[in-house]
Amino acid sequence: MVSRSAVGIVSTGRALPVSHVSNQDLETVVETSDQWITSRTGIKERRIVNSDETCSGLATIASKIALERAGLRPAEIDLLIVATVTPDRQMPSAACLVQANLQAYNAAAFDLAAGCTGFLFGLNVAEQYLKAGTLKNVLLVGVDILSPFVNWQDRNTCVLFGDGAGAVVMTNVEPGRGLQASKIFSDGHKAGLLYVPSGGSSSPASLRTVRERRHYIRMNGPEIFKFAVNTMVDSTLQVLEMCGKTTADLDYLLPHQANRRIINFALKRLGLKPEQVLVNIHRYGNISSASIPVLLDEAVEQGNIKEGDLLALVSFGAGLTWGAAVLNW
Ligand code: UT7
Repeated sequence: MVSRSAVGIVSTGRALPVSHVSNQDLETVVETSDQWITSRTGIKERRIVNSDETCSGLATIASKIALERAGLRPAEIDLLIVATVTPDRQMPSAACLVQANLQAYNAAAFDLAAGCTGFLFGLNVAEQYLKAGTLKNVLLVGVDILSPFVNWQDRNTCVLFGDGAGAVVMTNVEPGRGLQASKIFSDGHKAGLLYVPSGGSSSPASLRTVRERRHYIRMNGPEIFKFAVNTMVDSTLQVLEMCGKTTADLDYLLPHQANRRIINFALKRLGLKPEQVLVNIHRYGNISSASIPVLLDEAVEQGNIKEGDLLALVSFGAGLTWGAAVLNW
């Protein structure tokens, strides 16, 4: 039986660029070492788009896989949310480009910008529509193409980020299954910790902004590190409490893949065992909104997650934003 109030993820898909960039490759670009990157972040390589690969293109590939696995035609999608801070262009939205690629002509399509927490913001928005019963099928994509916004002369940031897309189909499911709780948060006072100074309406592109390298990510890594550990722990505990569970009930934690050390600290504070956390940061680095849906898709495909497992998803990112969700898989 399918109840209107129960909402779940019924399928997943992912798409990653073909080009691998290893830590050794980066040693030839900036003053860094495989040893530093591995020990401080856990990253070994990342995927970077080539000139044929775009935000909407990767999102489309991931979406087609998720739709096929859900057994849905594109025309059956009512809402298409693309969580991204790196759309193909300033306008129109990446979501409208994906809609056109898929021919999902019955869907309302929009982008959602919440930094690396974009996927969990999208999950929360989709949950409201599906619970209200106003829509039946939602396609949610988390996609970011960060490589064009990375300053390849700044070793503090260029070693961290990568590109990728993950998609899920959400619909109503049997009572007791699917999303048990989800919560999203923002603190705009911390906007200056992670931002791109120019290219928006307050500082449009000019010769000066390009010369001053103002179109690249600027980040206060250590401050975000502390913020990330605290908010990941707090928000995970909050969503567990919202659904009457504790960490003892959890099977797996699927955290945003930004830094292996952040994940390890959070894991320890939550009292979880190392084998309870899913990690793929060594292969992709930080792929922002795509981080959690790609991790989820790989875990499902590899059979690491079984029906009935209780999962906690948790993320943080530019804004600053953060959020968490509990899923009965
Ligand atoms: O999705 C949200 C996105 N952002 C994040 O999640 C960022 C969270 N923060 C982090 O992951 C970490 O703070 C970083 C990985 C960014 C930095 O690690 P850290 O352990 O906090 O290092 P640090 O910034 O305190 O720097 C330590 C040293 C510095 O040298 P000095 O000043 O001690 O001589 C840096 O210049 O490490 C140096 N360093 C590097 N050395 C070699 C910074 N980046 C590199 C590098 N290779 N790539």
